Amino acid sequence: MTDVFGTSHKDVHEQVVFCADEQSGLRAIIAIHNTQLGPALGGTRFYPYESEAAALADVLNLAKGMAYKNALAGLDHGGGKAVIIGDPATQKSEPLLRAYGRFIQSLGGRYITACDVGTYSPDMDIVARESRFVTGRTIEHGGAGDSSILTSFGVFQGMRASAERVYGTPSLHGRRVGVEGVGKVGHRLVDLLREDGAEVVVCDVSQEAIDRVRQRHPDVEVVADAAAMAVSDIDVFAPCALGGALTDAVVETLRAKIVCGAANNQLAHPGVEKQLADRGILYAPDYVVNSGGVIQVADEIEGFNMDRARSRAARIYDTTLKIFGIAAEEGVPPAAAADRLAERRMSEVGRIRGIWLGA
Ligand SMILES: NC(=O)c1ccc[n+]([C@@H]2O[C@H](COP(=O)([O-])OP(=O)(O)OC[C@H]3O[C@@H](n4cnc5c(N)ncnc54)[C@H](O)[C@@H]3O)[C@@H](O)[C@H]2O)c1
Repeated sequence: MTDVFGTSHKDVHEQVVFCADEQSGLRAIIAIHNTQLGPALGGTRFYPYESEAAALADVLNLAKGMAYKNALAGLDHGGGKAVIIGDPATQKSEPLLRAYGRFIQSLGGRYITACDVGTYSPDMDIVARESRFVTGRTIEHGGAGDSSILTSFGVFQGMRASAERVYGTPSLHGRRVGVEGVGKVGHRLVDLLREDGAEVVVCDVSQEAIDRVRQRHPDVEVVADAAAMAVSDIDVFAPCALGGALTDAVVETLRAKIVCGAANNQLAHPGVEKQLADRGILYAPDYVVNSGGVIQVADEIEGFNMDRARSRAARIYDTTLKIFGIAAEEGVPPAAAADRLAERRMSEVGRIRGIWLGA
């Protein structure tokens, strides 16, 4: 059973809302982990969960993750997320998305949504017809468009910071980087790496995705899968496919000195982080380096400006270096250092909201 009220203060969620509209078939859960830094911001996942319990467990976990990601991205946003239960290919419709929009609106701005797995910018345009609290809309509708642009840029900044830490220079020129998954984020990362003079090795289960990269960069090497990539002669491993890429087996054989990629929840289990540290592999925490996307959509709230959003995402370089510094000083793995830094910001900056502003 999922414990909405949590077993430790870190797991307590401020608000969890179940929403249903029978005619359109909407069944959604909106979870707000905390609003210490401002309105909760996080995407809407449209997914055919096996059960209500599975959907609830996912949304609680994702909302908490967003609180930490937003805090370290320097945003004035708390963490939230929503899930719509169903198959987006067959169940997504205008009435369903608009019904969902009305529930978001009913929260009065405590939760601001965006795209996630199964939802796209044109969907957000529809949701926005019923709610003011929507980001990730299309550019034609004043939105930030495809968030993978700044996600890949942010991952690249995190990788440069990791290179600075390991090699003493942020340049990836001449380094061999393995990119697992060359979808929306991965293929843009390959562009940035090639521009910087890195050698690139890729793998993907989709031949179409591979072909697209090979068309742009014919000299990119292709390997069968992550296992083959791990044992190949790479300096950096960038998981950009699904979560759980860093399994015991991959870490045991990994030749890279750095792991830095876009995928969420890269560690297959919490023990993997120690294994990475024991093998002398520097791990750039996923939620720190992949925050460019949320930085991009958050900018929409001010009236989207790509230059401003890009310069905010560029700070991922400094944040990543700072986390490595804290990890070394305090003798903890980088992911633990990142959590500490996020919690510090939530508590120190969140606290000032208690200052009475007068009438
Ligand atoms: N798009 C964003 O702005 C964003 C932001 C933050 C985090 N992320 C995370 O980054 C990752 C990539 O996101 P995306 O938007 O590029 O998704 P995507 O679906 O466009 O790309 C994923 C790619 O991985 C490939 N893939 C799937 N399973 C694979 C496997 N076992 N081995 C190799 N390749 C495999 C797919 O074929 C696809 O090409 C995801 O984990 C996502 O949650 C994305």
